Amino acid sequence: MHQVNLAENIYYLGFNDRRTHLFENLWPIPYGVSYNSYIIVDEKIALIDTVEHSFTDDYLSQIEILTNGRPVDYLVINHMEPDHSGSLKAIVTKYPQITLVGNKKTFDMVANYYKVTANTLEVYDDSELPLGTHRLRFATIPMVHWPETMVTLELTSKILFTGDAFGSFGTLDGGIFDDELNLAMYEEEVMRYFTNIVGKYCPHTQRALKKIECMDVKMLAATHGPIWRSNLSYIMDRYEKWSTYTTEIGAVIVYGSMYGNTAKMADVIARQLAVRGVKNIRVYDASKTHASYIISDIFKYKAFIVGSAAYNNELFPSVETLLTKIEHTGIKNHLLGIFGSFGWNGGGVKNLQKFAETIKWELVGQPVEEKGTLKTEKFEQCIELANAMADKLLG
Ligand SMILES: Cc1cc2nc3c(=O)[nH]c(=O)nc-3n(C[C@H](O)[C@H](O)[C@H](O)COP(=O)(O)O)c2cc1C
Ligand SMILES: [Fe+2]
Ligand SMILES: [Fe+2]
Repeated sequence: MHQVNLAENIYYLGFNDRRTHLFENLWPIPYGVSYNSYIIVDEKIALIDTVEHSFTDDYLSQIEILTNGRPVDYLVINHMEPDHSGSLKAIVTKYPQITLVGNKKTFDMVANYYKVTANTLEVYDDSELPLGTHRLRFATIPMVHWPETMVTLELTSKILFTGDAFGSFGTLDGGIFDDELNLAMYEEEVMRYFTNIVGKYCPHTQRALKKIECMDVKMLAATHGPIWRSNLSYIMDRYEKWSTYTTEIGAVIVYGSMYGNTAKMADVIARQLAVRGVKNIRVYDASKTHASYIISDIFKYKAFIVGSAAYNNELFPSVETLLTKIEHTGIKNHLLGIFGSFGWNGGGVKNLQKFAETIKWELVGQPVEEKGTLKTEKFEQCIELANAMADKLLG
């Protein structure tokens, strides 16, 4: 393997996963994901996080090469999620004298997930750990995106090891540092990673950003995706934007439709938005496009217009599932429009109205509900809904 230096005696030690279909068994990763660990070889040797358990054998071999067979003294645990703590037990077994470094929330998780006992060192905000030439300083960033998450700053190189913060889906296909790869290829994956994994905790992300902005940082080394050393503002600015729910002018239109009646209404609304000058319009069939992509676009654009066919007195199931996920993200500051088709006594729009009450986004225009296929009167109402939304979006 190539040795990848972040700075003198600080190495990248990560693996590409192109096999897993769903991250957290939930989110599609067509471009895979990397699990990034790091090692600092000094008078004392410190690992920063580990990797997903299926890479453990290779991981241990790489550590032996980089340490020249010396034992590892510390394992800094920035994050306990198993995609990073997956090799923890193997590390403790191989290096029984090792000291686990974490905060007061960490060690309870170590015991509960791995039934491991080891030496521990509890650290706090601004605690320091000397390794020789290198020195580590810690700061907790709770709920970005677990309770125990923290970041670790190496003071001589000014590298901040950030755990999942600033991470991305997508394997590292040769390029590991931001300046070695085409960032355009990561644009969507960086955003999906944030919106799917971290996006529920935007207020916590804001607090974490405030802490990090006070640090003297030259490189951001996350546990997934590229290492940011040339273009830190690329990722910092995006985190600032997304975690404050700052959106662009545009609309995401999603529908659930069995026989195309609700889909037709979506197309009418989309067309009228375009006629009015809205350029960013995405129309999705909730049964086909995974919520991962839809949620990402909702973070991007100000308006969300959702339609549902009535289905056994309820929402169409794929719409219901999507709306539940959206509620769970806690995303704020959006405009909402609703529509649907029914055949007997409804169930779609009625439940979309309940969603509107729960989510507390600004309901724009009148809900449009058609019986069966779209006819002149409801066509006009779809146009009015689109016009009302365009007025709000374009000001
Ligand atoms: C399995 C099934 C369940 C349905 N349940 C309801 C219902 O509870 N209430 C209602 O008004 N219409 C119900 N309908 C009728 C549809 O909502 C109606 O045909 C609507 O126009 C379908 O829109 P679509 O073409 O977008 O799928 C149901 C239809 C099907 C096939
Ligand atoms: Fe995580
Ligand atoms: Fe992770």
